[in-house]
Amino acid sequence: MKKILITGAAGFLGSHLCDRFISEGFHVIGMDNLITGDLNNISHLFPLDNFEFHHHDVTKFVHVSGTLDYILHFASPASPIDYLKIPIKTLKVGSLGTLNLLGLAKDKNARILVASTSEVYGDPMVHPQTEEYFGNVNPVGPRGVYDEAKRFMESITMAYHRHHGLDTRIVASLIHMGLECV
Ligand SMILES: NC(=O)c1ccc[n+]([C@@H]2O[C@H](COP(=O)([O-])OP(=O)(O)OC[C@H]3O[C@@H](n4cnc5c(N)ncnc54)[C@H](O)[C@@H]3O)[C@@H](O)[C@H]2O)c1
Repeated sequence: MKKILITGAAGFLGSHLCDRFISEGFHVIGMDNLITGDLNNISHLFPLDNFEFHHHDVTKFVHVSGTLDYILHFASPASPIDYLKIPIKTLKVGSLGTLNLLGLAKDKNARILVASTSEVYGDPMVHPQTEEYFGNVNPVGPRGVYDEAKRFMESITMAYHRHHGLDTRIVASLIHMGLECV
């Protein structure tokens, strides 16, 4: 049975991903510190043998025993209401959290998919944004805590890919944030 770690498992997207991967026959490890998430989103999975929940902050060292095939890193506040209230935790989960999960992926030889956002373009001067457009972000504005954390996330993910040959995926569009990436 394939094993997948889903961070942000109690959140909006993470909880649906847990449902989807359970229904596809995976062993799912859901991880969340519940800062914006809600256990009610995944409590129906608790009786299942192929679901485990780890109440853990991914900005701290992340340990998973045994093998691991995939990591989906969805932990991060996503709404401006949340990330403006917890700016430093938002920066930490995008940076330290991503670093910890990339390290885990390397150790386990797992494929990792990280959830980015079109906010990496900041206040875009080009519509629609193409892969060649690098954005217009204000690092010292209040929204910079989200945008810059995600930019760092993308950058370090590519560094692990180029430097260590890690199997990585970066997604920003909700359409692509699903099973087809795994
Ligand atoms: N919802 C969207 O429209 C959208 C769009 C683009 C990108 N994204 C990205 O998708 C991901 C999930 O978004 P969402 O809408 O489900 O948000 P959400 O707030 O519903 O879920 C995020 C989850 O991450 C958890 N979390 C936050 N910090 C954590 C930490 N340090 N350790 C462990 N868990 C932590 C929260 O408790 C929550 O359960 C985010 O990375 C977000 O940036 C979302």
